[in-house]
Amino acid sequence: MKVKAAVMWEVGQPLDIREVDLDEPKAGEVLVKVGSAGICRSDRHFMHGDAPIAIPVVLGHEGAGTVVQTGPGVTLASEGDQVILSFVPACGRCRSCLEGHSNLCDLHAATGANMLDGTTRLHADGKDVHHMGKVACFAEYAVVPETGVVPLADSIPMDKAAMIGCSVTTGVGAAIYSAEIKPGSTVAVIGCGGVGLSVIMGAALANAGQIIAVDIREAQLEFAMRFGATHTVNAADQDPVRQVKDLTGGRGADYTFEVFGSGDTTKAAYDMAAKRGIVTVVGIAPWGQEASINAVDLVRNEKTLRGSYYGSARSRTDMPVMVDLYQSGKLNLDDLVVRHYTLDQINEAYADLDRGEIGRGAIMFD
Ligand code: APR
Ligand code: ZN
Repeated sequence: MKVKAAVMWEVGQPLDIREVDLDEPKAGEVLVKVGSAGICRSDRHFMHGDAPIAIPVVLGHEGAGTVVQTGPGVTLASEGDQVILSFVPACGRCRSCLEGHSNLCDLHAATGANMLDGTTRLHADGKDVHHMGKVACFAEYAVVPETGVVPLADSIPMDKAAMIGCSVTTGVGAAIYSAEIKPGSTVAVIGCGGVGLSVIMGAALANAGQIIAVDIREAQLEFAMRFGATHTVNAADQDPVRQVKDLTGGRGADYTFEVFGSGDTTKAAYDMAAKRGIVTVVGIAPWGQEASINAVDLVRNEKTLRGSYYGSARSRTDMPVMVDLYQSGKLNLDDLVVRHYTLDQINEAYADLDRGEIGRGAIMFD
């Protein structure tokens, strides 16, 4: 079928909104009519060439929609299901999946921006077009593996569902599944975009005591107070490490999170952690960047430095938990999505992200 999609032909170029060819779903795949797609920084990293991806490609990995057709042998979703899309459709058979870490699925990692069989369903101008995260939801329709859809028990607004597909699960999961924040502890979050605000919501859910939001923009910091931040630190004018230490009686925070994506902010997250502090790196730094840490401090203060990918969550079991938390009023997703766009406005949506507009943007499809 012919569908409208935003194609990235080259790094550094605006996305090209045009018709592309989308094949029928093959065995174990489903066709989804996209309802909403989130404007996430991870896609921007590919557009800027800060992260490698096969091109041409349809980006978009934070989405939700409705299943309109199922391929042969599909058992995990049915036509008409409203679904959240997962950008790590787990194979269920590799070592990582079998060990319960389906967010790190080996087969998904090995097949990258292709479907699990290594081929693409998208084509344009005689070329194969790749699928970011096997989602490619900057398009009216998407063919995805059946393990990449998480059916919703009750319908929720599509833009909220889309957020659960990436930023919410990544951020809340980092707080409650990766770091396992303990009640009453102190938390510092560097970078308060869609993902960082979700870390803050996760810290609040875990009943953290002090939750310190760190950003370089005052507007983001004020906004963070709506999601559970108790203190703010503006990293633009003064050293954020010093400020976080001052707010925590000189100790540093028990849990720190890097949610921007750079070597410098990773180092700051490490340096502002307390003795026995847990440092969780969520943001994806430009490819090749390194962060230097004091090797003696690591030992003498028994700090833990770890990464967190997709919130260490298992999409098919943990995303429904996020939906329940939203429905019971414990996750404020209604305030998170503040800007809505059409697919034709996608380049403007990314310009708004670059300008640092607060909150999350989402593309809506009719
Ligand atoms: N110190 C603190 N905050 C910073 C700094 C800095 N030096 N530089 C930028 N920021 C803030 C920005 O002002 C912004 O509020 O980090 C925030 C990043 O938010 P978004 O651009 O909305 O990014 P988001 O979509 O939340 O993703 C964050 O997580 O999944 C990854 O790839 C993603 O690396 C990205 C990160
Ligand atoms: Zn994302």
